[in-house]
Amino acid sequence: MRSRDSYAEPYRIKMIEPIRQKDRQAREKLIKEAYYNLFNLKAEDVYIDLLTDSGTSAMSANQWSGMMIGDESYAGCDNFYNLRDAINDIFGYSYVVPTHQGRAAENILMSMFVDEKQDVIGNMHFDTTEGHIRLRKANPVNLVINEGLDPELDHPFKGNINLESLEKTLQDNGPERAPLIIMTVTCNSNGGQPVSMENMREVSVLAKKYKRPLIIDAARYAENCYFIKHRESGYADKSIRDIAREMFSYADGCTMSSKKDALVNIGGFLAFKDNEDWYEDAVQIQICYEGFRTYGGLAGRDLEALARGLYEGTEEDYLEDRIGQVYYLGGKLTEADVPIIKPVGGHGVFVDAARFLPHLPQTKLPAQALAVELYREAGIRSIELGTSTFGYTNPETGEEVYPPQELVRLAIPRRAYTDRHMDMVAKAFEGIAERKSNINGLKIIYQAKILRHFTARYEML
Ligand code: F0G
Repeated sequence: MRSRDSYAEPYRIKMIEPIRQKDRQAREKLIKEAYYNLFNLKAEDVYIDLLTDSGTSAMSANQWSGMMIGDESYAGCDNFYNLRDAINDIFGYSYVVPTHQGRAAENILMSMFVDEKQDVIGNMHFDTTEGHIRLRKANPVNLVINEGLDPELDHPFKGNINLESLEKTLQDNGPERAPLIIMTVTCNSNGGQPVSMENMREVSVLAKKYKRPLIIDAARYAENCYFIKHRESGYADKSIRDIAREMFSYADGCTMSSKKDALVNIGGFLAFKDNEDWYEDAVQIQICYEGFRTYGGLAGRDLEALARGLYEGTEEDYLEDRIGQVYYLGGKLTEADVPIIKPVGGHGVFVDAARFLPHLPQTKLPAQALAVELYREAGIRSIELGTSTFGYTNPETGEEVYPPQELVRLAIPRRAYTDRHMDMVAKAFEGIAERKSNINGLKIIYQAKILRHFTARYEML
């Protein structure tokens, strides 16, 4: 990776959107009224919004101009064929099922393959993926390598799956109990950590041996390919597009939330390499939930922006700047002694709240507490990836199950903020560090049964 001061953003800005910082008193009141759940805040009350990198990208002039040639025919619009060709070209997959976003593709996939009491094995599923697995009354099984769960350990591919555990699980429980193997690239839930090409290749060997479909959750595949290029031997001279082609060749299909690496504000798809029967099965479900096969819940203009965004997302100078900015923020936080997951991931910096607030046990929701403080301190919105998101109340025992990590994710929207915004984020952490022993934590006073963090209400302790 080149150092950040040796290049500037590979674009200039044609349109801006004003943002304003509310004063501290207003922020205190707003977050209290939001029951300390950052999802309840109005966007206009947020200064720098790092809630997600999903659907928050700035589109290019090329994408906006593509929107003007959206063909809004119900069936067979041009833009569907452009999208299909782009996916065929970049991923090498022939069958494309557009959906309104990633989780809709997950819904179709799980409805096709997953039955009650089965295990869906992956490196580490994202929360909506887990939600869809649980809705089918099946179990999500995460087999990421142990290094992937150690926040302090520097390892180039912390998203890799443990191949021995994968094979053992398939053998011990019988392969038929695992209807799918899903590899999430990059692995969002443990810090945007990449999966190596070698690991993907080995997973595909096991998937073939036990005749299990291998699916890639491709939300951030281009960022994953960038890490392969810069960290895995043999790939430095290959293009991102060649790396992507190889990676997808090992799987049977993918789901994609296009709101990430395809640089669009809405959209997703499910794609299969060559299985026409799967495709026709998927279309049956798509028609019920999303729409006809050539639009799948999206307007023609959205399909066009997506087809173009897929190409832009693989451009090398874009990826260098994008990941360079995430590393810039990671560096600033490290200088300020804020414990973060190392190495820095592709789409954001993940702060280790358990280490930043060591006086708070998991019962006091340290990651949610830190996310709330960040808003109170500077109007910055982040997201909790700890007990609120991944913990749950075991329906059989009534006991609270705690996840292995308490993280606050600072997800950076693509092409939307400058490094000066990142400086403000680092400064906010310095402010919190000075008073952190006074942070008492939170408790949940309302929660839904599934995906509780979106709607939970909290009270300050
Ligand atoms: N898979 C991964 C790895 C994701 O990160 C997401 C969404 C999805 C699937 C679902 O896609 O939102 O288009 O339905 N992640 C967002 C995030 C919400 O903030 O990380 P979706």
